[in-house]
Amino acid sequence: MTLTELRSATTPAAPRALPARAPAPPADQAARQRREPRAAPLSLRCVTKRWRGARVAVLDRVTVALQPGTMTWIGGRNGVGKTTLLRIAAGLIEPDTGEVEVWGESARENRVRYQRLVSLLAAGDRGLYARLSVRGHLDFCARIAMLPRSELQRAVARAIEDFGLEELAGRRVDRISMGQRQRLRMAMTFLARPEIVLLDEPLTSLDADGAEILRCAIAEVLAREGAVLWCSPERELRVRFDARFALEHGRLVGA
Ligand SMILES: Nc1ncnc2c1ncn2[C@@H]1O[C@H](COP(=O)(O)OP(=O)(O)O)[C@@H](O)[C@H]1O
Ligand SMILES: [Mg+2]
Repeated sequence: MTLTELRSATTPAAPRALPARAPAPPADQAARQRREPRAAPLSLRCVTKRWRGARVAVLDRVTVALQPGTMTWIGGRNGVGKTTLLRIAAGLIEPDTGEVEVWGESARENRVRYQRLVSLLAAGDRGLYARLSVRGHLDFCARIAMLPRSELQRAVARAIEDFGLEELAGRRVDRISMGQRQRLRMAMTFLARPEIVLLDEPLTSLDADGAEILRCAIAEVLAREGAVLWCSPERELRVRFDARFALEHGRLVGA
C-alpha cells in the first residue's frame, strides 16, 4: 500500500492538546505495556533552547504532540531551528527547559530505550564511514540496535531489498553516489523498525524511485501506529501530512 492510499484509507487525526504527564512506569514490563494510554508517541512541551552566545532562543516554548499513525510536517526558513528541534526530539541534545517524551517517558529516564524507539535521519550526508561497505553499515546498525542474533541477518537482508541496495551491498560508501548514500541512510534509519521516525530534509538527492521507497517505509511505520516528523524548508506538495506547522522566531505556528 502506498502512503497516499494509506492516508486516504484513514481519517487524519488532528493534533490534540498534550495529555497530563504519565507517571513513571514500572521497570520490568515490556515497552508496549508500559505506555500510558493517553500518552503521545512523541511530545515536546514548552521546549526552549538558546545556543551559547545567541541573543535569542532558537526554540521558545515549543509545544507539539505527534499522534499515532500520523505524519507531521514542520517547515521554516534556513536557520530557524528545525534541525535543533529534531536533535532535541531524538534525545541527542537537551533543551534548556521543557519536556520531551516518547510514550510518556523522557530520554533522561531511560536513554537506551528512548533511542531504540526513536530514529533520526539527519540532514545531509553525515553518519557514514567512507571505507565501510553498504552491508557493513547495516550490520553495524543492527548490532548497535541490539537486534537478537536470529533477527540480525534477516533485518539486514530485508533492508537491502526494501531500499534497493542489492547491487551496492558490497561497495564502499565513498564509491557510491549521493542518492545511493541517501538510500543507505534511509535503510539505516528504518532498519530496527523504530516507532518514531524523525526526518531532516529527507528527499535530498533522492530520485523518484528513492522517494517512493521512502513513502513505503513511512507508510509501514504509520500502519503500526508509529509517528513521523518531517522537517524541510518547503512543504513537499506530493507528500500528504496530517498536521503542518512552521517555525517562526522560535515559535510553532499553524501552516
Ligand atoms: N551547535 C550549535 N551551536 C551554536 N549554534 C547553533 C548550533 N546548531 C545550530 N545553531 C544555530 O541555531 C540556529 C538554528 O539552526 P538549525 O536548527 O540548524 O536551523 P534549520 O535546521 O532550521 O536550518 C541557527 O542560527 C544556527 O546557527
Ligand atoms: Mg536544518
